[in-house]
Amino acid sequence: MMASSTTDTLSTLDQHLEDVRQLMFRTLEETSLKGIVKDSPSLSALGGKMLRSRLAFRVGSATGADPELLVYGSAAVEMIHTASLLHDDVIDGGVMRRGVPTFWMEKGKAGAILLGDLLLFKAVDLMCRVANGAYTHELVKLTGEVCEAESEQELIFQGSESRLELCQSIARRKTGALFAFAALLGGQGNEHRTEVLKESGYLLGTVYQLADDILDTHAGDDSSGKTLGTDAARDIVSAARLDDVDLERHLDTLLEEAVRILNGDTQAVSGVKTYIAEDLQPALRALLG
Ligand code: IPE
Ligand code: IPE
Ligand code: MG
Repeated sequence: MMASSTTDTLSTLDQHLEDVRQLMFRTLEETSLKGIVKDSPSLSALGGKMLRSRLAFRVGSATGADPELLVYGSAAVEMIHTASLLHDDVIDGGVMRRGVPTFWMEKGKAGAILLGDLLLFKAVDLMCRVANGAYTHELVKLTGEVCEAESEQELIFQGSESRLELCQSIARRKTGALFAFAALLGGQGNEHRTEVLKESGYLLGTVYQLADDILDTHAGDDSSGKTLGTDAARDIVSAARLDDVDLERHLDTLLEEAVRILNGDTQAVSGVKTYIAEDLQPALRALLG
């Protein structure tokens, strides 16, 4: 389904990710912004590492979830994530993202904010088109958590002392919420499996965001492809400021918890373990060095 001839030699996961990218591009190309989407270097990198889609497919393939749900759900999550980055780069004044100049550098701040808004609502529209819209409300609720945590970090906690509990609460919602959505797609309509997979996703995303907080201290290092040093410059709470915490050990504990809470559900455990080993750990190593 949707795999083009250029993907014939790709692995199964890579083919799924290609399907997700194609659906994202098709969705944007169906709008009046088609020309801009085709020509923009920052949008040609649409998708980035696709960690959230990888989670959906690692888990969903293990549990036997509907492939169409996984493609649509992944595209929706990546579009919402990309919207949050378009807005974040305006807020942070970030000039590089995914190895190229940020969209606001290319087209201006107003354009980046408006394109982010478009992506958000096209993502919701995509979710209405699959599984009779059964996942739309969950996506809207979880995206609301992302926005609430981002707003809190800016409007309530800017300049506050960074404590583990606070950093973790923000990370869980601002990044964990979309990982939670990706993971719960593998729940197969089974209420208990869906709930535990959702919590597992929250934990995985929390780990990723706490590690990304550390990366921000490596200002001047271009290898991540994005502007660093903005958290400290803007005085926002960050795990990088936790002096008395062995963060790497704490992250390992959260990863163990992400597997443990699946309660021996063999398929779900296998999907999450594969994701941690093949996708998340390499990404964490790149963040933590
Ligand atoms: C960056 O996310 C922002 C965070 C939530 C830490 P990613 O590192 O997943 O970004 P891309 O999609 O690969 O560019
Ligand atoms: C990006 O957060 C926006 C969301 C997670 C919603 P960050 O500011 O922590 O991410 P980077 O470091 O710029 O990629
Ligand atoms: Mg940022």
